[in-house]
Amino acid sequence: MSDFQPIILKNIPDYHNIEVYMKNGGYGAFKKALKMTPTEIIEEVKKSGLRGRGGACFPTGMKWSFMPQKSDKPKYLCCNGDESEPASFKDREIFEKNPHQFLEGTLIACLAMGIKTAYIYIRGEYYPWIVMLQKALDDAYAKGLVGKNILGSDFSTDIYIHRGAGAYICGEETALLNSIEGKRGMPRFKPPFPANFGLWGCPTTINNIETLANISPIIDNGGEWFSKIGEPKHAGSLLYGLSGHINKPGIYELPSGTLLTDLIYKYGGGVKDNKKIKMIIPGGSSMPPLTADEIEGLQMDNEHLKSVNSYIGTGGIVVMNEDTDIVKVIKRITQFYYHESCGQCTPCREGCGWMLKILDRIDKGMGRNEDIDLLKDVANNIEGNTICAFGDAAAWPVKWAIKKFMPDFEKKVRESVDLPIANKVHSLRLTHQV
Ligand SMILES: Cc1cc2nc3c(=O)[nH]c(=O)nc-3n(C[C@H](O)[C@H](O)[C@H](O)COP(=O)(O)O)c2cc1C
Repeated sequence: MSDFQPIILKNIPDYHNIEVYMKNGGYGAFKKALKMTPTEIIEEVKKSGLRGRGGACFPTGMKWSFMPQKSDKPKYLCCNGDESEPASFKDREIFEKNPHQFLEGTLIACLAMGIKTAYIYIRGEYYPWIVMLQKALDDAYAKGLVGKNILGSDFSTDIYIHRGAGAYICGEETALLNSIEGKRGMPRFKPPFPANFGLWGCPTTINNIETLANISPIIDNGGEWFSKIGEPKHAGSLLYGLSGHINKPGIYELPSGTLLTDLIYKYGGGVKDNKKIKMIIPGGSSMPPLTADEIEGLQMDNEHLKSVNSYIGTGGIVVMNEDTDIVKVIKRITQFYYHESCGQCTPCREGCGWMLKILDRIDKGMGRNEDIDLLKDVANNIEGNTICAFGDAAAWPVKWAIKKFMPDFEKKVRESVDLPIANKVHSLRLTHQV
């Protein structure tokens, strides 16, 4: 593991600059792919074992093979850079440090699936990164790497940048499609799946930015090379994001399956002020949290995280120390989901607000004995009962925090119940101002 060379965040000065990128072999994989058949490219990606880095870990080669090669309608690629999940900030690092590797992957994806138009959907708040990405794209156009008859071939593809407007739900792939179409960003029912009925009803593939940034190294070095990096069932490197009570927060590219303790202590410099760990969120705010007892020997990839009832998500790890008020953290996370729910499905629209109200009163010393069961009940009724996975994302932190940190919830409720009534009625209405 120690001789691991980063695949995406290479330590080359000014690598974001097209001249530097090309001097170091950049766009060579695309030139190689131009000489391959679409099937050969897709087979190489399948062989690599690459799984999507947008959270669901779907095998990328398989997804590409769902795209009909022949279609009388236009086909589209949507590159998902919405990145609005709290604790996730890895795609931003790619836009800043290595935008051309992502653009090269986008071109190869278009080549493999016979796509002539790609949209990059980027989080609207990432304004400086939108400017950086636009510059990279303009430079690629100027070099004849994007546009008509690329590098004198009969392959043409245009790439457009589409700015989001601050809605987390637009990262969900079908809400993203609606948003690009100019509609309200609400998820669609599936089926039909985007591969057959996506953008404007046309065949569409949606891939995460990090997923696409892995493509050119796969074509350069072969799928087999990639499949041997990290954990076999979740091959490659991951851009782990470290934040919270950690000495050296940031993005660390390491092989999948890196030990969580290595990430925290070896790379992240340990917990601030040498405090003990209370809770860890392993992959963005929606992933079920871990207790301090679960982290020893735990490898950070999707397969190993399943053994502690969690998932890798976007690899955004939040470390929280022994002083952390678990109820407050979960309330804050729930506040985010309450605010971001698109309101389309009743369990999510109503349930997120109910969870927040209950958490708020427990936190403010007005909890009732029955509140923990009620909270579990609401979370269970959201999970699995919505059009998209947003409902699960909102329910999991609540459900699993109760399961894993029950004493913290019980303590707050006990203290609430024991509190003299006069202290509790400071303002019931306040609890509803969420
Ligand atoms: C509420 C919600 C938000 C999401 N946000 C993102 C996002 O910001 N970026 C992303 O790539 N995937 C996001 N996803 C996952 C996408 O729906 C989709 O699975 C992904 O973009 C597919 O790309 P991949 O196969 O390369 O991972 C989100 C999913 C949900 C349910």
